Amino acid sequence: MSSVATIKRNVIPPHLEVKGGCPLSGILKVSGAKNSSLVLMAAALLTKEKLLLENVPQLTDIEVMSEILSNLGAKLTKTNNSIEIHSEFIHNAELPYQLVHSLRASFFCVGPLLTRLGKAKIPLPGGCNIGARPVDEHINGLKALGAEVEVKDDVVKAQVSSKNKRLHGANITLKYPSVGATETIVMASCLALGKTTISNAAREPEIQDLAKMLNSMGAKVFGAGTKKITIIGVESLRGTSHCVIPDRIEAGTFLIAAAITRSPLTIGPVIPNHLGAVISKLQECGCSISHHGNHHLKIIPRDISGVEITTSPFPGFPTDLQAPFMSLMATAKGSSKIKESVFEKRMQHVLELNKMGACIYLENNTAHIKGVKELLGSNVKGGDLRSSAAIILACLSAKGTSIFTGLEHLDRGYEKFEEKLTNAGSIISRKFEKITPQNSFTSNTISEDNINTQKNAA
Ligand code: UD1
Repeated sequence: MSSVATIKRNVIPPHLEVKGGCPLSGILKVSGAKNSSLVLMAAALLTKEKLLLENVPQLTDIEVMSEILSNLGAKLTKTNNSIEIHSEFIHNAELPYQLVHSLRASFFCVGPLLTRLGKAKIPLPGGCNIGARPVDEHINGLKALGAEVEVKDDVVKAQVSSKNKRLHGANITLKYPSVGATETIVMASCLALGKTTISNAAREPEIQDLAKMLNSMGAKVFGAGTKKITIIGVESLRGTSHCVIPDRIEAGTFLIAAAITRSPLTIGPVIPNHLGAVISKLQECGCSISHHGNHHLKIIPRDISGVEITTSPFPGFPTDLQAPFMSLMATAKGSSKIKESVFEKRMQHVLELNKMGACIYLENNTAHIKGVKELLGSNVKGGDLRSSAAIILACLSAKGTSIFTGLEHLDRGYEKFEEKLTNAGSIISRKFEKITPQNSFTSNTISEDNINTQKNAA
C-alpha cells in the first residue's frame, strides 16, 4: 500500500512540515543536557535542603520527572530553565506505573528513596523502545550495598532492613559500564556507611556532572569520568545550586544538521571534550571543525564521504548519535558502515530513511549504507527519540516537502527543535490541522512503491 493511500484515510496527529534543501546559517543554541537534568533532579531527593538546578531544558521528559518528584512529596518551583526542588517532606516511596512507563530515568529515584525512606517500590521503567534495557546491574549494585530487592510482577521492591536503616559501602564491579547503573550506585552510596568502589564504571560526562553536583552538596565522590569511582559515605547532604552541562547529544545533532545541509554553522555552548568522537568522525568524513571562542564550535562541511562507525560507551561514538549520523551517511559519497553495539534494537530509522530514497541494507545491528545524491521529501514517522531527530535531519536535506509524525518522541528530548532550526534558516513548521492530499503532497513526494528504486547513488 502506498504512503499516499495511507495518509488519505487517516487523520494524523500534530506533525512537522519540513521544506528540504534550505541552507542553515548563523548560530544554533544548545540547551542544557536532558540526561544530566533527569539524574540531577532525582539526586535532589538526597537532601532535605533546597536544590536549585539551572539550565534545565523544557522537555516532556523533564515534566514527567517533575511529576514523579511531586508525587513523592517534593515541592518544585519552575522559572524558565531553572527548577528549585525541596525534598524535605518526601513521604511516598512508591511510584505509580502511569508515571514510570514512559520514562526510564524514573528508576533513578530508587537509590535516593532507599537512602531517605529506607524503601522504594518502582514498576520496571519504560523509555525509548530501543532494546530490552534491563536493570539487573542497578539491582545487583543496590544488593551489594545491603538493600533487599525483589522483582515481582514487573515491580521492583527494595528496602533496607539493617537496624540503622543505612546502606553500607561495597566493592562493585559492573559487567558493562552502564550509565544508569553507575548513576544509581553513586546516588545510593553517597550517604551509605563506609567506602564504595565502582569498577568498570561508565565514564559519560553526565556522570561527571552528577558527581560535581553531589560534591557541592557535601558528598565525597572521586574519580567520576574514569573507570573506577570511589565514594566515601557521609552523614548528610546539603542544598546547592548547579548549572547543568550543555547537551552533547543536541550539540552533535546540530553539527550533523550543518553537515547534512552542507551549511557552515556555529553551535554552542558546548564542552568540546564531550564531543571528541563525533568531531573526529565529522572531520574524517569531510567537515572542518574549529573552536569559536571558548564555548562554541564552527563547522564547515565540504564534500562528505562515507566512514565506518561502531557505537560504544564514552569516550566512544555515542549510540544516541548513531541514527542522526546515519542520515548524513545516506547522503555521503561512497559507502559507509555503522554498527550499533550498545542497544540491540536501535535501527528504526532505517526503514524511514529508505522511504526517502536512501540505500541502506541492514544486517543484524550493522547498517551498510550506499550514499545517494539526494533524498526525497516523504511522509515519515519517528519511532523513538533519536531516530526522530535523524529523520528530521534527512527531511532538511531532502528535495521537496516532508511530513514528519512522531512529535511525542522528539519533544521528549529536544527543546524548541523546530524553532531553533527555523531561526537558522530552515523552513519547518508544526502543524495541527488534518493532513489532506492537497496540503501535504507535492510532486516530489515519493510513495512506498518507488522506495529504493532511485538510481542516484553518489
Ligand atoms: C543512558 C541514556 C541514554 C543513552 C545510554 C547509553 C539517560 C536517561 N539515558 O541510558 O540516552 O543512550 O545511556 O549512552 O541517561 N544494561 C544492562 N543492565 C543494566 C543496565 C544496562 O544490561 O542494569 C545494558 C543495556 O541494556 C544497554 C547497555 O547496558 O545494552 C547500556 O545501557 P545504559 O548505559 O545503562 O543506558 P541507560 O542508562 O539506560
